[in-house]
Amino acid sequence: MSNAYTDAYELSIQNPEAFWGPIAETCHWYKKWDKVLDDSNKPFYRWFTGGEMNTCYNALDLHVDNGNGDRTALIYDSPVTDTKQQYTYAELRNEVAKFAGVLASKGVEKGDRVIIYMPMIPEAAMAMLACARIGAVHSVVFGGFAANELATRINDAKPKVIVSASCGIEVAKKIVYKPLLDAAIDMSESKPDATIIFQRPMETAELKPGRDFDWAELMKDAVPHDCVPVMATDPLYILYTSGTTGQPKGVVRDNGGHMVALKWTMKAIYTIDPGDVYWAASDIGWVVGHSYIVYAPLFQGATTILFEGKPVGTPDAGTFWRVISEYNVKSMFTAPTAFRAIKREDPQGKLIADYDLSKFEVLFLAGERTDPDTLHWSEEKLNVPVIDHWWQTETGWAIAANCEGLHHFPVKAGSPTKAVPGWDVQVVDEACNPVKAGDIGAIVVKLPLPPGTLPTLWQNDDRYVEAYLEEFPGYYKTADAGYIDEEGYIYVMTRTDDIINVAGHRLSTGAMEEVLANHPDVAECAVMGVEDQLKGQVPLGMLVLNAGVERDHADIIKEAVQMVREQIGPVAAFKTATVVKRLPKTRSGKILRGTMRSIADKKAYKTPATIDDPTILGEIEESLGQIGYGAKAT
Ligand code: COA
Ligand code: AMP
Repeated sequence: MSNAYTDAYELSIQNPEAFWGPIAETCHWYKKWDKVLDDSNKPFYRWFTGGEMNTCYNALDLHVDNGNGDRTALIYDSPVTDTKQQYTYAELRNEVAKFAGVLASKGVEKGDRVIIYMPMIPEAAMAMLACARIGAVHSVVFGGFAANELATRINDAKPKVIVSASCGIEVAKKIVYKPLLDAAIDMSESKPDATIIFQRPMETAELKPGRDFDWAELMKDAVPHDCVPVMATDPLYILYTSGTTGQPKGVVRDNGGHMVALKWTMKAIYTIDPGDVYWAASDIGWVVGHSYIVYAPLFQGATTILFEGKPVGTPDAGTFWRVISEYNVKSMFTAPTAFRAIKREDPQGKLIADYDLSKFEVLFLAGERTDPDTLHWSEEKLNVPVIDHWWQTETGWAIAANCEGLHHFPVKAGSPTKAVPGWDVQVVDEACNPVKAGDIGAIVVKLPLPPGTLPTLWQNDDRYVEAYLEEFPGYYKTADAGYIDEEGYIYVMTRTDDIINVAGHRLSTGAMEEVLANHPDVAECAVMGVEDQLKGQVPLGMLVLNAGVERDHADIIKEAVQMVREQIGPVAAFKTATVVKRLPKTRSGKILRGTMRSIADKKAYKTPATIDDPTILGEIEESLGQIGYGAKAT
């Protein structure tokens, strides 16, 4: 039966130009596009070629110019610093214009890169929007990454300026940023011309004369900068995400397609109209923060909340309900792990009764699969629809969702519902043949991808093609496996590569293995994601030591844990490892990580036919058993 969703979906697949063209008309353009979809350079599809616009203008100035300058644009709520602050569209526009002037005064021009390494403070969003205003390309680096990871990104993006802050606050812990930033700059070959540091009251960073500048000082005499028109196809940002090696992938987002698609999703998926209050409880360091704390709610003229806190401990498991009721949040978005954390502290959801949630209409979850327990608990306690939706850093917005603003389909636990308009999602086998409904295979998306998705990787077209387009010609490889049922519901089961998902954070086990392999006593290692009740998955390391090493294993493990923390960052949550005599491998030498993971997760497994030496599995069971993991083979 047809409905607003089916109509939109059909048109978006049959005639993408007829679908996206009119949506783009709702945005502001200095010059209209020549082509909605340009397929003249396959497989590099481009959207709105020839069009000129400005992302910051559409996020801020447009609303001021339309007479909505007094509407609240951004609410900053920080239980960790006991601060609350609100900015109207006019106020935020003025701050952003001034900071754009600051960046320009430091020589930043259209196309230059700016790295933003900041905690969850309004200045982080201002820095992003200021880059967009002058056509510079921002690259936000999550605060929980170590100096080494920051250095990798500096070397790849080669920023002219880095914007940072004196510290972040993690519940009760102060994370001092400047020494990490200094170490990263020391380590990298590419050096920024300047850094701009926002000094927070709880920590004053030492500034290196000539290179480091104080945000507040520069803002005092800043000359506001106007919006600079850019091509729709010019890059807006680079966001690095875990790949299969220690070298992260620089996902590029363009300006025009991003604006058009994101603005449309606010109503179609999240039910948000101009003036509504929307809250994405994530971090600006992740794609969710880019798309749904900063850009999409502002394109839509809604009010966005920037929350510096955690679901628990700031100060308690009622903090989410407090924010929802205090600001009349209509729909919110977070990761299932946040709800698991709340449920663990307040299993009966008693704290919910302390707040008026009558304005709250719908909860969206993503970042990892929503497990049925979390889904049912949230539905029951909040009494609103709970919508799992599936997407990736690369895609920038949801591939599959229950599009609440178009049509609500019955929720099936374990499924993010159906493909969102724009996405031709299919499941194929290794030879790229479609599989039957219900059969598991690789989840792929038929090209072209809709607007707002990655056009390439930063200065690396070859890696883009190789990583996403080569294996299944004509399709984008999501690197997720799963199935689609008879009714078109998509089920996303597992990654097909070595990416794991820790508390909704995407991490590469390969990158952790690269770090561990550098330990002088480690001959060989494997890292796998094992199940965790709170975080969904956590990494577990298996270490084989060099012959003759007689040191205490506990000391070696402690050093290994510290190495990952120092070289990747605390966000990796790498806390557990064990020493084993040998690793199970196939006869061709491939480590059987999947089998070890099944053992660790206490799942029944079959001894692989290709295993070189089956007796090793017994040893692995024993070692894992000693640290509280393990199962028996079937
Ligand atoms: N800067 C510095 N360090 C950070 C950081 C940041 N921005 N963010 C996290 N860290 C550190 C934490 O302090 C912690 O360090 P520790 O090992 O010293 O304790 C480590 O990185 C792991 O952090 P995290 O994964 O957040 O785990 P946690 O145990 O502190 O909290 C949750 C668990 C579930 C409460 C938290 O992950 C959460 O709220 N997640 C849901 C929301 C979300 O961020 N989703 C992202 C995608 S939507
Ligand atoms: P990221 O790039 O950090 O957003 O991580 C993307 C990956 O997280 C996806 O490829 C999936 O493996 C996983 N993921 C995100 N959302 C979901 C979801 N709703 N269901 C299942 N897996 C998800």
